Amino acid sequence: MEVIVAEHAGFCFGVTKAVETVYEQIEKENSNIYTYGPIIHNETVVSDLEKKGVKVIESVDELEGIGSGTVVIRSHGVTKEVHQKLEQSGLNVIDATCPFVKRIHRIVEDESKKGKSIIVVGSESHPEVEGIVSYATGPVYVIDSPEKAMEFEGDKKLEYTVVSQTTFNKNKFQETIEIFKNVGYNINIVNTICNATDERQTEAEEIASRADVMIVIGGTHSSNSRKLYEICANKCTNTYFIQTLDDLHLEIPRSAKLIGITAGASTPKNIIEEVQKHVRTNF
Ligand code: F3S
Repeated sequence: MEVIVAEHAGFCFGVTKAVETVYEQIEKENSNIYTYGPIIHNETVVSDLEKKGVKVIESVDELEGIGSGTVVIRSHGVTKEVHQKLEQSGLNVIDATCPFVKRIHRIVEDESKKGKSIIVVGSESHPEVEGIVSYATGPVYVIDSPEKAMEFEGDKKLEYTVVSQTTFNKNKFQETIEIFKNVGYNINIVNTICNATDERQTEAEEIASRADVMIVIGGTHSSNSRKLYEICANKCTNTYFIQTLDDLHLEIPRSAKLIGITAGASTPKNIIEEVQKHVRTNF
């Protein structure tokens, strides 16, 4: 059985930087280290940090009870309002928002100041999208699928700037903007799907189209991992979504020759290694 592990699997640049930032603070023996939300959607990493004393703040209301310490903003950023509240809290704020996400904040702020309406293609409840939306100073809409784009009732006399969540499914983004174009909206498109996501999805799709079995490793709450699963499942019917090796109960078809493995941006290397080793040894 041939086993292929995607080259673009696991931590992306932005996640690596955010996680390293927290570990650096631990090494500096700073006390009272907090992250605003879990630093990544990976329970293994979050519980390791917890054991080392790092606490997770879930909302600005919790800031009141904290006298001193350091708070790290995770890679997908926070809303403008939360950012301001953190700055005013008196805590030492380390902003590990990925520069690719910050770029979207700037685009949205600038474009909406110019009078454009903003359309964000992404999942409305995702913290990254909540952050992006908060930088609009005028009308802003979130569209999470081509189906929702069909239902969109905008004003064709207005100008729209369209951006995307950094981890959005690139094929669905294309489909979505085609609909806006065909309906006749005046749109300026800025494809802000980040390179790391694009490469990861393109490679996963290519491997899945050849593989008999595909394994996607990612946190259950990780939206980029779920999108990766969607893409792979579309090409390979035997696609498995697992968080760690413990979840893997493979049923390999008799004729299977190729197993592909990929992983979302919040999956640590050691988990990918473990799964890979297990598959190579047992199949
Ligand atoms: Fe940044 Fe792209 Fe990762 S936006 S956090 S490098 S998926």
